[in-house]
Amino acid sequence: MSIMVTGGAGFIGSNFVLDWLAHHDELIINLDKLTYAGNLENLVSTRHDPRHIFVRGDIGDTVLLDRLLSEHRPRAIINFAAESHVDRSIHGPEEFIQTNIVGTFHLLESVRGYWEKLVGLFQQGFRFLHVSTDEVYGSLGKNDPAFSETNRYEPNSPYSASKAASDHLVRAYHHTYGLPVLTTNCSNNYGPYHFPEKLIPLCILNALAGKPLPIYGDGRQRRDWLYVKDHCRAIRLVLEGGRVGETYNVGGKNEKTNLDVVHTLCDILDKLAPPATCHLPLTTYRSLITFVKDRPGHDRRYAIDASKLERELGWKPQETFETGLRKTVVWYLENQSWVTNVTSGAYRHWIDKQYGT
Ligand code: NAD
Ligand code: DAU
Repeated sequence: MSIMVTGGAGFIGSNFVLDWLAHHDELIINLDKLTYAGNLENLVSTRHDPRHIFVRGDIGDTVLLDRLLSEHRPRAIINFAAESHVDRSIHGPEEFIQTNIVGTFHLLESVRGYWEKLVGLFQQGFRFLHVSTDEVYGSLGKNDPAFSETNRYEPNSPYSASKAASDHLVRAYHHTYGLPVLTTNCSNNYGPYHFPEKLIPLCILNALAGKPLPIYGDGRQRRDWLYVKDHCRAIRLVLEGGRVGETYNVGGKNEKTNLDVVHTLCDILDKLAPPATCHLPLTTYRSLITFVKDRPGHDRRYAIDASKLERELGWKPQETFETGLRKTVVWYLENQSWVTNVTSGAYRHWIDKQYGT
């Protein structure tokens, strides 16, 4: 038996691969294009593990997909592959349309062709799990209830619009062709291997370097935060027990303003790596907080109601925001070579050497 993941060299995908190998003996085929966000250093511990097969490739390459599917005959596909950064989607939406919409379409086409030829119990048991985001639901008002699975889709950025389109395609492949799909819509993740373009890793690394901690607008935008391992466990549960055709919201009940997040982060850093130990002339990292121009169309508030997942599959996050954030800070402090290779771009040199451009 085997499963295939796409985008398994990115932040959540690589955490999922590591988690999967810690819980299963099943082969995992990992298809990733290795864009700037894909980093094989995240998977260095699997280098000699015969249960992990890495393939560099695009989810839009149906020839490659058809070959991989017929060669490995996976019982499930988990689609993490995407362009994921909202700010990049504002500066250049094209890649988001290509990967998140066109790429997902090609992936679905290949998977449909494969699934239709399966027989009996193997066909019945097959699953396509699409990993999506809470951003498809748009922005909540101050007193609105948290997003449930029945909320209307109202995406506001090119990123969230492209993810919404991919969710609709996945839904349509179930409704029209009967493809056994599952979709998860999760809130903001944080944890190890998070690329430092996103708020939490960016602020950890900037703080340790004595650089400004940029807060967009007034910093009162609210997000729900979930430790990445809790997300990975939710995906495993949905894969094994989720009802076909259903969507499941995943969230940590940790609604915070961005300013609160950065304050908490600074307080943890003040304790674990006091500025003086980093040769910084500061009494607290909070003094590095700098308000900068807001993100265009910045969604004000996200909050997730994950009660369906809790009720049907018994999922609950294991980390609180404080424990998860502390673990994350410790991870960044203890993994300086990963940080150095990512910030210097050195991780790309190895990829180019190994795989060509
Ligand atoms: P990421 O940007 O860290 O990783 C994306 C991975 O996909 C990279 O390894 C990249 O190389 C790969 N990739 C990109 N285009 C590809 C293509 N055309 N073919 C094959 N591989 C390709 O993203 P992430 O934060 O790990 O997010 C993973 C998924 O989870 C995305 O679908 C994202 O929308 C969703 N999601 C993310 C969060 C979050 O907070 N990060 C929350 C909810 C949902
Ligand atoms: O909600 C789930 C989404 O969370 C995922 O679908 C996305 O893939 C993921 O990137 C994340 O999107 P956000 O835009 O919420 O994450 P980001 O870390 O970029 O920003 C978090 C909040 O912090 C957001 O309100 C913007 C703000 N921000 C971000 C950066 C990078 C700042 O104030 N300053 C910054 O420098």
